[in-house]
Amino acid sequence: MMNYKGGVGKTTLSANIAADIADRGNKVLLIDLDPQANLTLSFVSIEDWKNLDRQERTIKHWYDQYLDYEHNTSLRELAITPSRVNAKIKQNGNGGRLDMICSHLELVEVDMELSSKLGGHTDRAIRKNYFNVLSRLRFKLDEIKGEYDVVLIDCPPNFNLITQNAIVASDCYIVPAKTDYLSTLGINTLLKHVDTLTKKYNQHLNVKQHRDIPPISPQILGIVFTMVSYHGGVPISAQREYISQIERSGLPYFNNSLRENKTLFASAPEAGIPVVMNHGNTQQEQIRRETQALVDEVLAAIKE
Ligand SMILES: Nc1ncnc2c1ncn2[C@@H]1O[C@H](COP(=O)(O)OP(=O)(O)OP(=O)(O)O)[C@@H](O)[C@H]1O
Ligand SMILES: [Mg+2]
Repeated sequence: MMNYKGGVGKTTLSANIAADIADRGNKVLLIDLDPQANLTLSFVSIEDWKNLDRQERTIKHWYDQYLDYEHNTSLRELAITPSRVNAKIKQNGNGGRLDMICSHLELVEVDMELSSKLGGHTDRAIRKNYFNVLSRLRFKLDEIKGEYDVVLIDCPPNFNLITQNAIVASDCYIVPAKTDYLSTLGINTLLKHVDTLTKKYNQHLNVKQHRDIPPISPQILGIVFTMVSYHGGVPISAQREYISQIERSGLPYFNNSLRENKTLFASAPEAGIPVVMNHGNTQQEQIRRETQALVDEVLAAIKE
């Protein structure tokens, strides 16, 4: 889940899509790569999060170990099964599970340290360091991804090395966007950055030592419109304009979107259960149906 524009709904969408896919009977792994840790705190209580910090079981500690030259910690050791959402998944009886790898506020510093690992005195050292830093998440995720039906990564609102790690590790990506001028403006640039990263990374595979490693080709699954306001059953005209702009641009987008509802979306993280899993009044049920329809589309797009 990626867009370097902030506050467009990446985390909310990650939580809801992952929970619904798990609730349908799949094993899902959610990875929070944002130092703001909003996704982590959408499922895990502050108390449990502090415990994970003490046990050094966050993605920040995992990168720290890499930076300290202990290369071998498996991501498996970080994955937890958040209790509140999984109790609900269990109650619904389809046999799924939602695991998660939590973030940490100090992940910001890890990014700076990763940058300092790039470079070197010779061309060979520069190539090797670039390849190692960029491949970190990809190779370690390869070890455990067979244990899950879907792995979903929530990226921070930037294109730093941690986000680049996520792209290199991903088969595809979703771009959540608000329907306003500034949110739709940067999408083409974002796609260009992914393209440039892909080409650069694959060039580094073009040497004898890496000949057995397959190239990456992260595909855009589509843009998801978030926080859409409706009037008379259609998005309000100010937003319709930006939706049709994207439609005309030829970029892939999802037909279903996330409706704006501050009350429901603001209170869900504290309860530890995403909106899509709750029942309630007409608005709640409508959002539930629409989000489930979006998940149908996402799953169909992944299978393609
Ligand atoms: N459909 C929605 N309706 C109303 N509020 C929403 C909706 N989706 C998200 N929000 C709210 O908007 C804010 C930003 O959402 P969110 O954290 O998901 O965005 P983000 O893109 O992950 O942000 P960041 O770039 O900081 O990581 C949050 O307060 C969230 O509760
Ligand atoms: Mg976020």
